[in-house]
Amino acid sequence: MIHHPFGIFDNSAKEYQHIQAEPLAAAMGAEILGVDLANVSAAEFQEIQHALFRHKMIYFRDQDINHVEHEAFSAKFGEFGDDAYTDGVADHSQVQPVLREANDPVAIIFGSGWHTDSPFLAKPPAISMLRAVDVPPYGGDTMWTNSALAYSQLSDTMKSMLAPLKVHMSIQRFLKEIKTTGKDGSPVYLKSSIKESSNPNAAKQKFIGAFHPLVRTHPVTGEKSLYCDKTYTTCIQGMNEEEARPILDYLVQHITQVAFTCRLRWKPNTFALWDNRLCLHQAFNDHDGYRREMYRTIIAGETPI
Ligand code: SIN
Repeated sequence: MIHHPFGIFDNSAKEYQHIQAEPLAAAMGAEILGVDLANVSAAEFQEIQHALFRHKMIYFRDQDINHVEHEAFSAKFGEFGDDAYTDGVADHSQVQPVLREANDPVAIIFGSGWHTDSPFLAKPPAISMLRAVDVPPYGGDTMWTNSALAYSQLSDTMKSMLAPLKVHMSIQRFLKEIKTTGKDGSPVYLKSSIKESSNPNAAKQKFIGAFHPLVRTHPVTGEKSLYCDKTYTTCIQGMNEEEARPILDYLVQHITQVAFTCRLRWKPNTFALWDNRLCLHQAFNDHDGYRREMYRTIIAGETPI
């Protein structure tokens, strides 16, 4: 069913004392104004966190911060999470480069395809943060979709049917997909910005994956959301492929419909963060000839319930 942004959609801004929120789209996302990320007070932080949970993705413009300041702001949200993708940059193991050079002939970039971050881990990341340093003049946007709003729009019968289900998340499906991407039919591998992690367990864990509730509950707000994506969700526990695939395909199509999304056009010094428990996101490989240099940190999450 195609939804339209009215009725129970509410992405309006709350009145804050220390920050200002300006909604980006009807479904989710907000720009936060009045904050210097290098000097965030405790009172500002409380409101930033509230705004993050309310809008699912928030962003700040004009934040000319360095890796140390990026790490310090990130650490206010909790412990750094396992990334399973990179070892970080020199002297900053928690700051992961997401870089595509102007003439990099990559078929698939890091983060393309709707996904939630690293759900193949037993405790997937709660929050991800991305800082733009160099961006294309156009293209290279990121989109997010509100998976809590998507859940709320399902019928009660569908909600009851999904309630006990668990999904398997692993990189297997993604690997299968990228092997068939070549124009001439030959395998195309993820040659991307991302320098693979040197942790030998990381690759194994990505492949083995983990089972998680298909409907998860946010540990702070109690909000329920659909935990299912196009990139990593392979199957439903206890069902065969023929049974599970139509349900998963329907849910991905439902979650990623336009009405639930927002889209951010990056500028240098834009800093965005999102809650992986409440939204999916995707990057675009649409800026051939232009460099895109970003840095990412992630905050550890809990075992999804
Ligand atoms: C990511 O998936 O974390 C990266 C998103 C992006 O580069 O826009």
